[in-house]
Amino acid sequence: MRETDSQLPARVAVILAAGEGTRMQSDLPKVLHRVGGKPLVAHVIAAARAAECDRVVVIVGHGAAEVRNVLGEAGVEFVEQAEQRGTGHALEQVRGLVQGSDMLLVLSGDAPLVRSSTLRKLASAARDGWGAIATARMDESESLGRVVRDQEGHLERIVEVADADPDELAIREVNAGLYALPAAGILDYLERLRPDNAKGELYLTDAVGNAARDGRVVAIVDLEDSDEALGVNTRPDLARAQRGLWRRKARALMNAGVTLLDPESTRIDLDVEVGRDTVIHSSVSLLGATRVGSRCELATGTWVRDSELATGVSIQPYTVVDGARIGSDCRVGPFARLRPGTVLEPGVKIGDFVEVKNSHLGPGVKAGHLAYLGDAEVGERSNIGAGVITCNYDGETKHQTRIGRDAFVGSDTMLVAPVEVGDGATTGAGSAITQDVPPGSLAVERSRQRNIADWKKRRGTGDEERGARGEERGTGSGKPEAGGGGGDGGT
Ligand code: UD1
Ligand code: MG
Repeated sequence: MRETDSQLPARVAVILAAGEGTRMQSDLPKVLHRVGGKPLVAHVIAAARAAECDRVVVIVGHGAAEVRNVLGEAGVEFVEQAEQRGTGHALEQVRGLVQGSDMLLVLSGDAPLVRSSTLRKLASAARDGWGAIATARMDESESLGRVVRDQEGHLERIVEVADADPDELAIREVNAGLYALPAAGILDYLERLRPDNAKGELYLTDAVGNAARDGRVVAIVDLEDSDEALGVNTRPDLARAQRGLWRRKARALMNAGVTLLDPESTRIDLDVEVGRDTVIHSSVSLLGATRVGSRCELATGTWVRDSELATGVSIQPYTVVDGARIGSDCRVGPFARLRPGTVLEPGVKIGDFVEVKNSHLGPGVKAGHLAYLGDAEVGERSNIGAGVITCNYDGETKHQTRIGRDAFVGSDTMLVAPVEVGDGATTGAGSAITQDVPPGSLAVERSRQRNIADWKKRRGTGDEERGARGEERGTGSGKPEAGGGGGDGGT
C-alpha cells in the first residue's frame, strides 16, 4: 500500500462484498464461502494486490462483522454499506474515500477466479477511453448480466437477467462484473441512478450504460478464460468455481513438470507447491499450506493437509497426512495416518494401519504394520513390530515414550509411558513394558508358556466330534515360544 501526503493514490481497488447472497441459502455471508481453501473474497483481494493497486477497499454490509473478522489480517480497508440497495449503491459508499483518486478498479467479491493480468489489461484499456469492462462468452450464463453492443460493436448497455427480454436473454456475452472506471466520472453517474428495474436496486451496470449512452467510450476486454467471470450466486456456482480453481492449479502444475494422471479428480489448493517429476495419481487432495518436493509419488486417495514432503517420498494409497513433516525417500502407507507434530527423518518406512502423532522418528525407522506411536521419540534404524502401542495417555495426561537407536520393539509390545527403551534394546513380543529397558538388554514381560502333553487325548470324549465340526480349541496359536526374540518386526 502506497500513501503519502504529497501524492494521492492513483489506483484504488473497490471490492463489492456487502450482498447477502440470498440464493446461497446460507447463514454464512456469501463472500466467506470457501473455495481453494480460502474465502471467495480473499481470492479477489489477492488478485487486486497482485495488480499493484495502491489501496484495496472492501465494501461490507451483510455479516459485516464476520467478514471483517475473517479478513482482519488482510491489510484492507473496510467501508460499510448499511443497507444493500444494489451494486451502484455499494460503489457509492466510497465517495468520501477516493477523492483525488484517478482510477477505480471495481471487482465482485463473489468472483474468485479473476486474474491480476486481467485487472492490468482493464486498467490500460480504460486509459484509452472513459473506462473499461470485462466480458466473457458463456453457455451457462443464466444469472449474469447480458452485454448489448451497438452496430459498431461498442458497449450500448448491460441488461440484468431479471430485466431482459427473450432476445437479450439469448445473448451469450455476459458482464464479468469487473470494471476499470474513472473515479470522478463514475461517481457523477452513480448520483443519477434510479432503481427503476425489476429488483428495485441501484445498478452499477446502469451507471456504466448511461456513460456509454452519453457517448463515453467504454472499452470491452473480452476474457479468454470465461471462468474469470464466474460469479458465485448459488451452490452449483460455488462447485463450478471450486472445480475451476482446481483445474487451473492442475494446469499450472503440469506446466511446471508435475505429472497428474487424472487431473479432473485431483484437488490441489492454490498455495500448494509441488516439485518437478512428482507423479500424482487419481483422487489426491493436497490442501492448505502443503509443500511436496520433487520425484515424489502420491498414490490414489492420498490426502495431505498443511504438511511438508521432501524429495522422493512415496505415499501409498489411501493415506492421510495432516500437519506432518516427511523426510526424503520415506515410504508411507497404504492406509496410514500421520497426525500433527509427526516428523519422519529420511528413509523412514511406515506401513499399513500405522498411526503416528506428535512423534519424531529418526532416519531409517521402520513401523510396518498396525502400530500407534504417540508422543514418542524413536532413534535411527529402530524397528517397531506389528501391533506395538505407545500407551501415552493415562486418562489425564499424555506421557512421552523414548526409544533409542537400533532398538527392536517386538510385536504387540505395550509401551506404558513415560518409559524409555535404550539404544540397541529388545522387547519380547507381547510384553507390557512399564519400566525403562537399559541399552542392549532384552525385556520380556509375560508368563512363561506351559505345554501340557497329550492334553487332547486326556480330555477324552467330545473332542473328535468338535474336531469334525472344524472348531478351534486350545489356548495359543500353536507356535512354539518365540525365544527371546521380539517377534516379526516387519519389513
Ligand atoms: C452483478 C452484475 C451483473 C454481472 C454479475 C457478475 C449488477 C446490477 N449486475 O450481478 O451484470 O454479470 O454481477 O458477477 O451489478 N453487492 C454489494 N452491495 C449490494 C449488492 C451487491 O456489495 O447492495 C455485492 C455482492 O456482495 C457481490 C457483488 O456486489 O459480491 C455482485 O452482487 P450480486 O448480487 O452477486 O450481483 P449479480 O446478480 O451477480
Ligand atoms: Mg454475483
